[in-house]
Amino acid sequence: MAVSNHSIEHLVPENWQRFREVRLRALADAPDAFGATLAETQARPLSHWRDRLGDTASATFLACNANGDDVGLVVGSRWNGIVETVGLFSMWVAPNARGRGIGGALVDAVIAWARSNGSTRILLDVADGNAPAIALYASRGFLPTGNTGNLPPPRDHITEHEQALELQN
Ligand SMILES: CC(C)(COP(=O)(O)OP(=O)(O)OC[C@H]1O[C@@H](n2cnc3c(N)ncnc32)[C@H](O)[C@@H]1OP(=O)(O)O)[C@@H](O)C(=O)NCCC(=O)NCCS
Repeated sequence: MAVSNHSIEHLVPENWQRFREVRLRALADAPDAFGATLAETQARPLSHWRDRLGDTASATFLACNANGDDVGLVVGSRWNGIVETVGLFSMWVAPNARGRGIGGALVDAVIAWARSNGSTRILLDVADGNAPAIALYASRGFLPTGNTGNLPPPRDHITEHEQALELQN
């Protein structure tokens, strides 16, 4: 696979506008890949974005291309407050940047962050039928746990499957 010339940046609170802009692009582009909606996310107070980046129980990474454009996003965060477990959320790569290893590099950033915090497990949810995401997570060793859930109405016809990566610390 070709690997694009990109960099991965761990965001700090001052980067909140870039975080918001890329997250809104992701929700507009791939609404059925995420539990949150574009409308509810657009309505969040601007302080939400800075606060999220200031939360040391989570880490947000952006991918930038060689021109300095933001082309990908992922968030790692404690899973329901459990110290040993990190949740991987908000995974997205811009359509014109896909297939070049950027998604894999973003997942690797969350894996490295989780390891550095002594976490032993990463969990995520992926919608059935989302073949690119399922392939991405399989390439990093994620396996289905068998737990499933549905997106909130009116998208409750979409089933999400939980996947886990056990980390050897
Ligand atoms: C899923 C997504 C993040 C993948 O990003 P990407 O940058 O194209 O992924 P990569 O190029 O790093 O590919 C990583 C692996 O997945 C595989 N893969 C990616 N897209 C694929 C596709 N369409 N078909 C088959 N395999 C695919 C690659 O072959 C690669 O495997 P390898 O490392 O063994 O070669 C991207 O398609 C996306 O943003 N989709 C919309 C949002 C979304 O679905 N997010 C996930 C929510 S759970």
